[in-house]
Amino acid sequence: MAHPDSGMGELLLCPPDHYGIEYEINPWMSRARAAEIPVAQAQWKGLFAKLSELGAKVHLIDPQPRLPDMVFTANAGLTVGRRFVPSNFRHQERAGEAPFFAQWMEARGYEVVWLPPNLYFEGEGDALFGGDTLFCGYKFRSDIQSHRAVADIFNCLVISVELVDPRFYHLDTCFCPLPDGGAFWFPKAFDEYGQSAIRQHVGEMIDVPEEEAAHFSCNAVVLDRDIVLPEGAPTLVEKLNARGYRCHPLPMTEFLKAGGACKCLTMFMPQREKTA
Ligand code: ARG
Repeated sequence: MAHPDSGMGELLLCPPDHYGIEYEINPWMSRARAAEIPVAQAQWKGLFAKLSELGAKVHLIDPQPRLPDMVFTANAGLTVGRRFVPSNFRHQERAGEAPFFAQWMEARGYEVVWLPPNLYFEGEGDALFGGDTLFCGYKFRSDIQSHRAVADIFNCLVISVELVDPRFYHLDTCFCPLPDGGAFWFPKAFDEYGQSAIRQHVGEMIDVPEEEAAHFSCNAVVLDRDIVLPEGAPTLVEKLNARGYRCHPLPMTEFLKAGGACKCLTMFMPQREKTA
């Protein structure tokens, strides 16, 4: 069963019209390894079609020239109820996206609440609810100090976990909460303390083997019993099936070249209707 306060399946996506590997801000990106644009277009359309088919209401924001990573709407910000906290991007290369996302949400009636500009925070990419608890990742992108500010805005319990493997630089690359109170994750992306904090606050965990985690298998969109994830995770899919989930693996090769996949391309609006 879905968490009673989880969002109703309204999602924000951004078409990949201006997508490309134009700079290098994480270990996956190399300007020498360009994305094949027609293939990226087809993969993104496949994601859009699958999410729509599963009953999600998908909203689209206009892509902007010279903002190639704007497709990764998970980093637009974090939405709870009708309140939206925009990201403060760590890298200048992405900072230009923030006003477009904020204006778009504001125009649709969301209350936009900015964090202090000196606190880096990269939205849902680093902030995922498991039950009523908001798990927040820090170090590579978001600052740990941003978590307290987010907790105050949404009045919720935040568990801050440090990310230690630069390949898994956002929380949503290595951790995916499930509506049954469990989660799947790549434990070695966290330090010992983070691992035990997560184990303490989350129900039954599924450990994703390294070779599957490296396909961004944890970067999944969970819509109640349906899970949309990148191809290449047979053991994870088997375990999720055994727990009663239907898995929908999609090709994501062209977005992996930017260090992203299904979840990075998606923001829940909202991720939670309300906090406890
Ligand atoms: N190239 C983008 C970046 O490095 C990818 C963002 C992936 N987003 C995510 N939520 N993990 O910022």
